[in-house]
Amino acid sequence: MLSIPPHDIEARLAEHDNKSILRFITCGSVDDGKSTLIGRLLYDAKLIFEDQLANLGRVGVANGEEIDLSLLLDGLEAEREQGITIDVAYRYFATSKRKFIVADTPGHEEYTRNMVTGASTADLAVILIDGRQGILQQTRRHSCIASLLGIRHVVLAVNKIDLVDFRQQVFDEIVADYLAFARELGFASIRPIPISARYGDNVVSASANTSWYKGPALLEYLETVQVDPPTQEKPFRFPVQLVLRPNADFRGYAGQAASGHVTVGDPVVVAKSGQRTTVKAIVTYDGNLERAGEGEAVTLVLADEVDASRGNMLVAPAARPFVADQFQAHVIWFDASPMFPGRSYILRTETDSVSATVTTLKHQVNVNSFAREAAKSLQMNEVGVCNISTQVPIAFDAYKDNRATGNFIIVDRVTNATVGAGLIDFPLRRADNVHWQAFEVNKAARSAMKSQRATVLWFTGLSGSGKSTIGNALDRILHARGKHTYLLDGDNVRHGLNRDLGFTEEDRVENIRRVAEVAKLMADAGLIVLVSFISPFRDERRMARELMDEGEFIEIFVDTPIEECARRDPKGLYEKALAGKIANFTGVSSPYEVPESPELHLKTVEVDPVALALKIEEFLDQRMEEK
Ligand code: ADX
Repeated sequence: MLSIPPHDIEARLAEHDNKSILRFITCGSVDDGKSTLIGRLLYDAKLIFEDQLANLGRVGVANGEEIDLSLLLDGLEAEREQGITIDVAYRYFATSKRKFIVADTPGHEEYTRNMVTGASTADLAVILIDGRQGILQQTRRHSCIASLLGIRHVVLAVNKIDLVDFRQQVFDEIVADYLAFARELGFASIRPIPISARYGDNVVSASANTSWYKGPALLEYLETVQVDPPTQEKPFRFPVQLVLRPNADFRGYAGQAASGHVTVGDPVVVAKSGQRTTVKAIVTYDGNLERAGEGEAVTLVLADEVDASRGNMLVAPAARPFVADQFQAHVIWFDASPMFPGRSYILRTETDSVSATVTTLKHQVNVNSFAREAAKSLQMNEVGVCNISTQVPIAFDAYKDNRATGNFIIVDRVTNATVGAGLIDFPLRRADNVHWQAFEVNKAARSAMKSQRATVLWFTGLSGSGKSTIGNALDRILHARGKHTYLLDGDNVRHGLNRDLGFTEEDRVENIRRVAEVAKLMADAGLIVLVSFISPFRDERRMARELMDEGEFIEIFVDTPIEECARRDPKGLYEKALAGKIANFTGVSSPYEVPESPELHLKTVEVDPVALALKIEEFLDQRMEEK
């Protein structure tokens, strides 16, 4: 939903005249005929631009009736701006009454995210239904998301009405079903229209085939529907994309006004620091401006030197955004691998990008009934209400106040794929009131007193690989040398702090999150912490590493083939697991992700554990010398 060009389009449309603009999206399942509908709308209303028609000629279709209108859109797909990770095509057209921007989004089940993207700027949603199929899960999901995204008006386009012999009864039943379901969603208007996108019934003009239908055709409705009048202009928000410093005399902040406007001489505040200054000049490629408003890409020159890098916002002093590192949000999950609380992701707002974790999944929203349901994870296409914590504070508004500055996407740290989107509800006051105390007796003082360097030795490997045995040997060696250590062992911690956790994926994520936090506190106390947990997932080991100071985290891969672990079977668990008596057993029925670049890689087969412990000791001594 970010960096999409609707504003550009708007600027182009603005050239036309002062006609109002309607932004809408179409949604529905793959076969509901979205592309055909838009094609039909453009074609019948003689709205297809000449170059696009020529294009159609080239793909070898002719003859009005038989033209494959969805091809028209496919041809346009190619024009899509490169580099947008999300697959939404915006088209614009105008009639004598109104201008339109339509976001066309693919309809596959896994493409909910495209719909989310398109919907975040729309006033109205055309929800397509196949007249033969009626309301599907997808219809409900899209309606639910449209409502969450703040869309207030719906056209229920009951398509393929020709295939049900233009029967009123079919139409009426679908409409009744939909109205019953949508009652909870709070739309301001729902307009059902029976159509055939393929043959044009009720698309641009009323159809003789549905004489029982007395309402407007789709285009007529879109031309006249009253969407909410533009409310008061929103406060000025200018997310900084880039600081321009071509020479020592010039410093400008480049970006696109997300809302409101600014005039030369206006006071502005740097959102995150509260520094105040005024706008000295508004610079563009085509010369300076006196005023810049929503959607305009400009460079602001300020009267004073301020600290505002990418991700910060310049804002109206009288109406500032929130700045916080904890907030509640509605999250829509797109990815095949589920969202787990405790896992670390990248959160991106309009221009900011920070590490973030979902601290609590408060509940899931049932897209059929809108009911709140308890959940431990979010699966693909599910919607949940979460508390989110970012590593550093970000500047934002509540989504209901400002769609542009109240949304974010969630990006997987490894694959870089967009895995979710979020709508911010409100900041958590907690974050304002809980500050990390900078005590005078700090980690440096505490570790210096112990003549050691605070360190986290993170042993990872299969159950029975030898983590605890080697850890225990090392602990004895270090203790004998007067070092202050503590060994955190999976089995032991699971008896106390983590007694409530089992071995599902989400429980393991939480298990590692907690022990990583404990290890961090112990390192802060100046200790050498030995952590011996299977810790099967790369994501959580990375998260643990990032919690610690630079160079403090040492990952030790205790590499023992599973056959050898099963042969040793110190606790008799492999025997049970292989007999199917333990669920989710690592290496048997639950994955172990091998470390990619551990600081130490120990192969244990036919090697004395004490020799391996001595090897770690040697590594630590060398590291002390290098320091
Ligand atoms: S972790 O995967 O969440 O890091 P942890 O190290 O805390 O696991 O606990 C692993 C220990 O729990 C194993 O050494 C074993 O004794 C015991 N255990 C019991 N059930 C399982 C299971 N399903 N998978 C792995 N270990 C298990």
